[in-house]
Amino acid sequence: MNKADVLLGLQWGDEGKGKIVDVLTPKYDIIARFQGGPNAGHTLEFNGIKHVLHTIPSGIFHPTAINIVGNGVVIDPVIFKKELDALTNMGVDFKSKLLISKRAHLILPTHRLLDAASEASKGKNKIGSTLKGIGPTYMDKTGRNGLRVGDIESPDFKEKYNVLVEKHKQLLAFHQYEYNLAELEPAWFTAIDALKQLTFIDSEHYVNDAIKKGKKILAEGAQGSLLDIDFGSYPFVTSSNTVCAGACNGLGIAPNKIGGVIGIFKAYCTRVGSGPFPTELDNETGEKIRQIGREFGATTGRARRTGWLDIPALKYAIDINGVTELMMMKADVLSDFANIDICTHYIHRGERIDYLPFSIEPSEVTPVYETVKGWNCDLTKLTAKEQLPKELSDYVKYIEKAVGVPITIVSIGPDRTQTIHM
Ligand code: GDP
Ligand code: IMO
Ligand code: MG
Repeated sequence: MNKADVLLGLQWGDEGKGKIVDVLTPKYDIIARFQGGPNAGHTLEFNGIKHVLHTIPSGIFHPTAINIVGNGVVIDPVIFKKELDALTNMGVDFKSKLLISKRAHLILPTHRLLDAASEASKGKNKIGSTLKGIGPTYMDKTGRNGLRVGDIESPDFKEKYNVLVEKHKQLLAFHQYEYNLAELEPAWFTAIDALKQLTFIDSEHYVNDAIKKGKKILAEGAQGSLLDIDFGSYPFVTSSNTVCAGACNGLGIAPNKIGGVIGIFKAYCTRVGSGPFPTELDNETGEKIRQIGREFGATTGRARRTGWLDIPALKYAIDINGVTELMMMKADVLSDFANIDICTHYIHRGERIDYLPFSIEPSEVTPVYETVKGWNCDLTKLTAKEQLPKELSDYVKYIEKAVGVPITIVSIGPDRTQTIHM
C-alpha cells in the first residue's frame, strides 16, 4: 500500500528541516505542510543563494513537485504574499504548483496584536513567542470562531471578519493594549486579494486521491517535538501538534497511511524563546557553538540558546513520533571541539532516568554527560561517508546505539550539496 512519509524536527525547532526537505524533494511528487504557520523559518541554500520560507513548503524550488499548505496550517496573508513576491522575483512559477487548503485558518492583524498583548501581560514569564499571532489564531480555531481560507470566497467574508475583529477588540481592551488597526488592515486585505491568484483546494481529498494513485508524498513538519502543545515543555511550547500525529490531523491522512517517519536533529541542541533546556551551555562553549553555527533565528533574528545533545530528549521524540530514520544536521559546527559532551541520562529526584519526566526544569533534572573525542577537522568539502573522520563515525554509531534508529544522512553544511548519505 502506498503511504505518505513525514519529516519532523525532534528538538526545539530549527533543526534544518527546510534543507532536508529540499534535498529529498526530487524523490517526491507532493510536499505538504501540516501545522504551524509563519512562526516557522525554513532555510535552504543552493547555487550560493539562501532562501527562507515561512508558510510555503520547502519543495517549491523544484520544477515539478506540488506544494500544499494543509488544513492544519495557520496563514498570515501578509507574510504569505511577501513569500510569493520573493518567488516571483526569483522567477519561480508557483501558480501551478502551490495549493492551499480551504480549511487552513487565517491569521488576522488582531491575532498578532493579541499575541503581543498576551506576551506583554505575562511579563518575565513570557513564552518568547515569535509574535506572529499563532497562539491566538489556534485559540480561535478550537474556540470555533476562526476564519478560514475557504471563507475568502464567501460573499459575507468582510462581515465574518468584522465579527471576529469586534471580539478581538474587547480582548485587547481587557489587556489595555494600545494599537492602530487602521494602519494594518489595508495590507491585510491587499494580501487576501493576492492569495486569490492561488488555487484553494479540499486538500484532504487531494492528498488521499494522490495516495491512492501511488503518488509519493512528504509531509513537512514545522517547529519540533519539544515545542509540541501536548508533549513539549508546556507552557513554553507552540500551539499546534508538531508531532507525527499532527500530519494526520493537519492533512487528513489516516494513521495507517503514514509510511516512513524521518526525524531531523542537530548534532547539538538549540532553543529560541523561553523555557527549560537541560543541556544548555550558558557559557563560552555555548557562545562558540552559537557563533560557528550562526545560531540566530530565521524568523526573528533572535540569538538561539545552545547546548549539548540530549539523548533522553531525543529518545522521547523518537518514541512519540515513531521515527524510522534519523538525519543529523550541522556536524560541521562541532569540528573545532577537542571533546564533545553527550547527555546520556538525567538525575531526577535522586534517581538516574533516561526519559523525559513531567517537568524538565533545572530544579527537577540534572543532566549526566559522557565525553567523547571530537573530530577536529573540516568536514564541509567531504562528499562520501567513507571520508568521514573516525571520531564522527563513532559519534554517529554512539547515537544510533543509544536510540536504536539508523542515521541515514549526516549534514556537513547549509548547502544542498553538503549532505552525506550514510
Ligand atoms: P528549520 O527551521 O528546521 O528549517 O531550520 P532553520 O532554517 O531555522 O535553521 C537551520 C540553519 O542551519 C539554517 O541557517 C540552515 O541554512 C543551516 N544549516 C542546515 N544544515 C546545516 C549544516 O549541516 N551545517 C551548517 N553549518 N548549517 C546548516
Ligand atoms: P521552525 O519551523 C524554533 C518557538 C518560539 C517560542 C515558542 C512559541 O523554523 O523550526 P509561537 O510563535 O509559536 O507562539 O512561539 O515556540 N518557535 C520556534 N522555535 N523554530 C521554530 O520553527 C519555531 N516556531 C516557534 O521561539 O519559544
Ligand atoms: Mg527555523
